[in-house]
Amino acid sequence: MARQSLQEEMTALRERALAAIQAAGDAKSLEEARVEFLGKKGVLTQLLRGMGELPPEERPAVGKWVNALRDELAEALEARRRQLEQAALAARLAEEAVDVTLPGKRPARGSLHPLTRVLREMLDVFTGLGFEVVEGPEVETDYYNFEALNIPRHHPARDMQDTFYITENILLRTQTSPVQIRTMESRRPPVKIVAPGKVYRVDEADATHSPMFHQIEGLLIDKGVTMADLKGTLTAVAHALFGEDRGVRFRPSYFPFTEPSAEVDIECGICRGQGCRFCGGEGWLEILGCGMVHPNVLRMVNYDPEEVGGFAFGMGIERVALLKYGIEDIRLLFESDMRFLQQF
Ligand code: DAH
Repeated sequence: MARQSLQEEMTALRERALAAIQAAGDAKSLEEARVEFLGKKGVLTQLLRGMGELPPEERPAVGKWVNALRDELAEALEARRRQLEQAALAARLAEEAVDVTLPGKRPARGSLHPLTRVLREMLDVFTGLGFEVVEGPEVETDYYNFEALNIPRHHPARDMQDTFYITENILLRTQTSPVQIRTMESRRPPVKIVAPGKVYRVDEADATHSPMFHQIEGLLIDKGVTMADLKGTLTAVAHALFGEDRGVRFRPSYFPFTEPSAEVDIECGICRGQGCRFCGGEGWLEILGCGMVHPNVLRMVNYDPEEVGGFAFGMGIERVALLKYGIEDIRLLFESDMRFLQQF
């Protein structure tokens, strides 16, 4: 009878202990379960202490059972501890996970101004042909902007360009041509340069005029340079900028610093020479002025016109941009309207 009830008690104890361990939901309650059953003052310790009261023949079996139960509980505790740890880890991973499928925010990306793009493209073409890039000042003297370019005071050609004067002799350059003079003054031939930069003219801003705009000047001086070199070079440039299939024509013109002088037209890209609204019915669009450098200009920089000569040209960068991109109003290039600029 006593044996019977001891056994029942032990079985019940085991079940209670295992249930408590299984029920522990965190490290703290698991530790409480351990103390309750396996601690120094725990249920199992007390059971062993009470063995003295058992009949001697029952003690070995009960002792063995208690030891086995201690091992079993220790194992169950460890297993439960690992389970809880893993659940905690899984919970943390789930909580800290980054959803890489969320659409990101794109950083605003700038783009080059159409003028910068065209300028770089043009400089690529010229440097590819062996021209060196040089620069000159925007505030110039009368001498470099006019006098040395064979445009003396009272020469009617001064009326071609309305000038912003700062003093009687200092002005905002009306063209990049003065860089020709500055370059030739500072070196001996051969010279092969292009000079990009801002120029200024007293002009009311409208669809085709701006008081500030950009030009690229070109100058090639060497022995034995002919008009054929000018035509070949500028035809290649026009084709590189606008496409090999565009017609190019040279028209006689006049500039004081070149003789002979010409203007270069390309075939209108819209009507292909037929005449349309874009080209004003002409079928052709003017892109640059050029010519063989005037002997007077060479003499001004102490070059001997009997020995060396060459060609020069000047083209408006805005004009090339308008033609290339089909922009109808030059003011768009200076108004910084994002809706316009973002198209480039
Ligand atoms: N400087 C001229 C202008 O602004 C353009 C030009 C024409 C430049 C002929 C040249 C040239 O070098 O040879 O209208």
